Amino acid sequence: MSETVRVLLSEEEVDRRIAEIAAQISRDYEGKEIHMICVLKGGVFFTCELSKRVTVPVSMDFMSVSSYGADTKSSGVVKIVKDLDLSIQGKDVLVVEDIIDSGRTLSYLLEYLNNQGPKSLRLCTLLDKPERRVKEIHVDYTCFDIPDEFVVGYGLDYAQKYRNLPYIGVVELD
Ligand code: IMP
Ligand code: MG
Repeated sequence: MSETVRVLLSEEEVDRRIAEIAAQISRDYEGKEIHMICVLKGGVFFTCELSKRVTVPVSMDFMSVSSYGADTKSSGVVKIVKDLDLSIQGKDVLVVEDIIDSGRTLSYLLEYLNNQGPKSLRLCTLLDKPERRVKEIHVDYTCFDIPDEFVVGYGLDYAQKYRNLPYIGVVELD
C-alpha cells in the first residue's frame, strides 16, 4: 500500500494566515510578555513561524504529551512525556498546538497548566477539526478550521513522516 499527499492549504496560504494571527496576538498582548508553550513535536514549526512574527517579548518552553500511537486513531490516553522546564506562575501563557481533534489532549493539558497558577492561559492552534470534538475546549486563536481528514505537514506527521512539508496536505492511501 502506498500513500500520496494532496495539498489542502498551500505554503502561501498558511504563511499569510500565521502573519494575520501573529498580528492579532501582538495587539491583544500589547504591553505584556507572552510565555509560549509549544506542544511537541507537531507544534514546533507553527511555534517558530508564529513567534517570529509576534512583536511583543516572547519566552518559550516545550512540552510533549502523547495521545496517539503510530497510526491515525486516537487512543484517548494522555501522558506527559516531557514536562515544562520553567515555572508558569504569574505568566501570560499561550499554548501553541498543531491541531485540535477530539480535544482530549488539550482539555487535559489546559487543566494541568491552569493548576500551576498562570496569570492568564490562552490557546492558539494552527488547525482545528471542530466536527471531531469529544471534549469541549475554548480555543482563543485558530488559523484554519479543516474538515475531518487526516492531515500532514507543517509539523504534523503520519507515522513520523511528512512533518517537514511546508504546506498542509491530506494523506491518501492507494
Ligand atoms: P486530540 O487529543 O484528539 O485533540 O488530538 C490532538 C493530537 O492528535 C494532535 O496534537 C496531533 O498530534 C494528533 N492529530 C490529530 N489529528 C491529526 C491529523 O489529522 N494529522 C496528524 N496528527 C493529528
Ligand atoms: Mg499535537
